[in-house]
Amino acid sequence: MPGARSTGNLPTELTSFVGRRSEISEAKRALATARLLTLTGVGGVGKTRLALQVAAKVRRAFAGGVWLVELAALQDRTLLDQTVADAMGLRDRSARPPREVVTSHLADKQLLLVLDNCEHMVDQCAGLAADLLAVAPGLRILATSRHALCAPGEQILTVPPLPVLDPERLSQPGKLIHDEAVRLFAERAALVRPGFAVTASNHAAIGRICWQLDGLPLAIELAAARVRVLTPEQILHRLGDRFRLLRGGGQAVVPRHQTLRAVIDSSYELCSPLEQLLWARMSVFAGAFDMDAAEAVCAGDGIDRDQVLDLVTGLVDKSILVRQDQNHASQARYRLLDPLRHYGWDAVPAAEPEMLRRRHRDHYLELAERGEAEWFGPSQREVAARTRCEHDNLRLALEFCLSTPGESQFGLRMAAALYFYWLGCGFLAEGRHWLDRALTMHPEPAKARAAALWINAHLAVAQGDASRATDMAQEARDWAERRDDQTVLAYAIFVQGAAAWLCGDAPHGQVLLDDALARFEALGELSTAVVIAHVMVIVAAGFDDDLPRAVALGTRARDLCEQHGEQWARAYTLAGLALAEWRQGAVAQASANTQEGVRALHGFHDTFGTVLLIEQGAWITEATGDSKRAAALLGAASTIWPLVGEQPLLGSPHYLAAREACEQQARRTLGDRAFRAAFASGADLDLNQAVACALGEKPEPATAAPTGTSTSDKPLTKREQQVAELVAHGLSNKDVAARLVIAPRTAEAHVERVLAKLGFTSRTQLAAWITQRGGDRIP
Ligand SMILES: Nc1ncnc2c1ncn2[C@@H]1O[C@H](COP(=O)(O)OP(=O)(O)O)[C@@H](O)[C@H]1O
Ligand SMILES: [Mg+2]
Repeated sequence: MPGARSTGNLPTELTSFVGRRSEISEAKRALATARLLTLTGVGGVGKTRLALQVAAKVRRAFAGGVWLVELAALQDRTLLDQTVADAMGLRDRSARPPREVVTSHLADKQLLLVLDNCEHMVDQCAGLAADLLAVAPGLRILATSRHALCAPGEQILTVPPLPVLDPERLSQPGKLIHDEAVRLFAERAALVRPGFAVTASNHAAIGRICWQLDGLPLAIELAAARVRVLTPEQILHRLGDRFRLLRGGGQAVVPRHQTLRAVIDSSYELCSPLEQLLWARMSVFAGAFDMDAAEAVCAGDGIDRDQVLDLVTGLVDKSILVRQDQNHASQARYRLLDPLRHYGWDAVPAAEPEMLRRRHRDHYLELAERGEAEWFGPSQREVAARTRCEHDNLRLALEFCLSTPGESQFGLRMAAALYFYWLGCGFLAEGRHWLDRALTMHPEPAKARAAALWINAHLAVAQGDASRATDMAQEARDWAERRDDQTVLAYAIFVQGAAAWLCGDAPHGQVLLDDALARFEALGELSTAVVIAHVMVIVAAGFDDDLPRAVALGTRARDLCEQHGEQWARAYTLAGLALAEWRQGAVAQASANTQEGVRALHGFHDTFGTVLLIEQGAWITEATGDSKRAAALLGAASTIWPLVGEQPLLGSPHYLAAREACEQQARRTLGDRAFRAAFASGADLDLNQAVACALGEKPEPATAAPTGTSTSDKPLTKREQQVAELVAHGLSNKDVAARLVIAPRTAEAHVERVLAKLGFTSRTQLAAWITQRGGDRIP
């Protein structure tokens, strides 16, 4: 989760790390002087692992945190800036170019950016690095790439393979055990064959294998996975044949990329024909995927659906597929390491690439449309989490649609179906990117275009880009009027109304919003967008002091959400209600609703909604007479708004006037100096701490923020892990109890125990800790 003092997003490494002491100190030394350090070397040599180790070691030196940006799965170069912004948790809602969002965020930060796997967009990365370093004096960049970026000021560290001794020339073979390469082999072998150890009888063979493989970590891992079925002697024997072929009988040294290639070749040959075919087909995925996806995309034409599980098991056993368990999602996920993915793609049968891409697209289009259908309902949180997991694959599918002749109408459909995700999970800019591209390819008037137009217009409104929104909504409206499509017409009018109200034309905005509401009612239309239309009317009525109407509508909208189990828009409804209650003087009620809303939206990672409610919480707190806390909350919001967009509060004159009034009042009560001090104390909080403050929990001082390394030695039990996750997703004790079907008392006791074990005092610390450990990963 972003914040001025966040420690970043480094993932927990799932397998042990071996050796590299001198490379780590060399990289640390280099980073102390150079501002851009690139780790280069062949695929599989260990660049990424080394970068992660170095980054973890220097984390303390960077108050702004260490942020990993994973580029391997990124295909669309124009999304580079967006990807960097996402990785740092910047949820910009404005229409600013993402490069600008990133530069302005980094300008005053002491921060390390790790750009992993730059090789397929070296020029773009070089340009990015140059731009960022030019404006952000406290920034350092650590890149990994097969080739240098050739950016100004770049320092290069070539990552060598793990050291390994020539066993033939060793006087004391026992020494081999200390070889880093041999250690890596032994540790990976023990993973597939518990109890495996280097012994007097096998060490010579292992040493030879590692030497043969030139100390290349990925190659060693692939070879080690074979101890499940073969002895080291046998593995060595098989490799030996292959290398003799490579050397063509002579003594020439085999170049490293060929070494890796040879090992992958032999891994490939050890697979059954069906495993080979599945490996090839699976290379169509970007990043990780789950079993459902594997079955949907890769089965057929030679592989039966019910064979996929066994084949996947075989590929995991051989270390071809890596299992990734990091989500609270109920499905295990798998991925191919980069060199294996490229190898797999080359092995796809000639007739299949296009078919695979199309099936991949079909699967993710279906996922997007299922998400769209389920979003307004009780499984909303699961939909959000599931969609977030598949972001890379969704991008790849969209890219396929928009770059393959004859497929673009699917792209238009898919970008529009993901409306809920772009809006609800903080990806406005990216949503507009895809919708804009798809709309450009479909200029002719049609229903799909009209629907995409009003959706894109809503994203623009949410970014405060009222003029583009108005144009797009008008075009959708014209089409709907011509074709008498009442549904599209109602949505288009809603968006026009929202745009008008936000840019200050309240009377016109209200007329349009009322019109939209009446139309939705007449049509019996119900969706998250319809609830948001209600929220707009509630807020407008609230500012207009038509409080009975605001409260009546708010109550109704909230009830609607509750009937359907909708939680995201419900939180916005609470925000609208709280606003009206505050204007009415029902401060306690307003405060309770605001807190409930903050908790929920924070759980959705909806930074915009969260900060909006923190800000509103300041005004309400001021009304309770606690000016000091009100000032602190204003300060907290002022730090978070820049993460969200160009201008606070969407630039809405109504909201800005309310903030101004709150600030004036707090200043009068506290006096200038005390106000400034309280404001500054809030401005120092990061997002999680600000949320704690808004919830009335005592925020910890920033320096004591949990780092993710403060675990006690007592690990969490399985149940405690579940509880921790749910709490991190914003569920109350009562909700945790309901979800796990246990008594509320028991849930409460679990929560207490989790906090005590981890040494935390608040739920937000727990959430922060879980987030810092890599998104939704559980401890
Ligand atoms: N020092 C190391 N200790 C343990 N495993 C390593 C080490 N270096 C690399 N590996 C493993 O080898 C494989 C390839 O490493 P990776 O860092 O992905 O290579 P690259 O980024 O150079 O392609 C990964 O599975 C990684 O976990
Ligand atoms: Mg890598």
